[in-house]
Amino acid sequence: MKKIGTKKLETERLILRKSTLEDAGSMFKNWGSDPLVTRYVTWKTHETIEDSLEYLKYIQKEYQEGNTYHWLIVLKENNTPIGTIDVVRILTDGVVEIGYNIGSLWWGKGYTTEAFKKVIEFLFNEVDVDTICARHLVENPASGKVMQKAGLKLEGILRQREICNYTNTLMDVAYYSILKDEYKNKKTSN
Ligand SMILES: CC(C)(COP(=O)(O)OP(=O)(O)OC[C@H]1O[C@@H](n2cnc3c(N)ncnc32)[C@H](O)[C@@H]1OP(=O)(O)O)[C@@H](O)C(=O)NCCC(=O)NCCS
Repeated sequence: MKKIGTKKLETERLILRKSTLEDAGSMFKNWGSDPLVTRYVTWKTHETIEDSLEYLKYIQKEYQEGNTYHWLIVLKENNTPIGTIDVVRILTDGVVEIGYNIGSLWWGKGYTTEAFKKVIEFLFNEVDVDTICARHLVENPASGKVMQKAGLKLEGILRQREICNYTNTLMDVAYYSILKDEYKNKKTSN
C-alpha cells in the first residue's frame, strides 16, 4: 500500500477534494447537523458550527500523516459540499475500511455510489490496496445498497455488534468487501 494521501478526484457530477477549515459552515448546514444523517453512524449530530470545526481540525491533522484519505464530496454544478467519504480505518497494511455520509437533501440521486466507485478505482489503481471493506447497521439498508452498487460483496452479518445512535440498542452489522483481483478481473471482462 503506497502512501499517496488524499488526492483530488473527479467524476461526472462530483469533485472529491480535501476539506479545509473554511468548509465548517457547509458541513454543519448540509449534513453535520442533520439528524437523519446521524441515525445510523458512529458520530453524534453536530449541535453547533464549533462541532464541525473541531472535526475539520482533526481531519487537517490527519492530512499531515500522508497515509490518510478523507474527501469532501462537492457538487460540480454549484460547488456545494454535500458530504464526506473517508478511509475510516486501515485494518492492516493493504486493507482499508470506507465510510460515507451525505446530507438528506441529496439522498437517492446516486451521488454516494458515484463517489465510492471513484474512491475504489483510486485505492486499487493508485494506492495499491488489496481489500476494501465497508460495514453498515442492518437497519440502514440504503448504505448496503451503495456497497452492492459499488461492487462489494456481502461477507456476513455479525449479530448485535454495535450500538445504534438512534435507538441506543445493539444492532446487527453487515460486512462487505471487494478484493483487488475481483476488481481487476471485472474491469478486464467488461
Ligand atoms: C447511506 C447514504 C450514504 C446513501 O447515499 P445516497 O447518495 O442516497 O446513495 P445512492 O443514491 O448512491 O444509493 C442509495 C440506494 O439505496 C436505495 N435505498 C434508499 N433507501 C432504502 C431502503 N430503505 N432500503 C433499501 N434501499 C434503499 C436507493 O433506492 C438507492 O438504490 P437505487 O439506486 O438502486 O435506487 C445516505 O443515505 C446517508 O448519508 N445516510 C446517512 C449516513 C449513513 O448512514 N452513512 C453510512 C453509514 S454505514
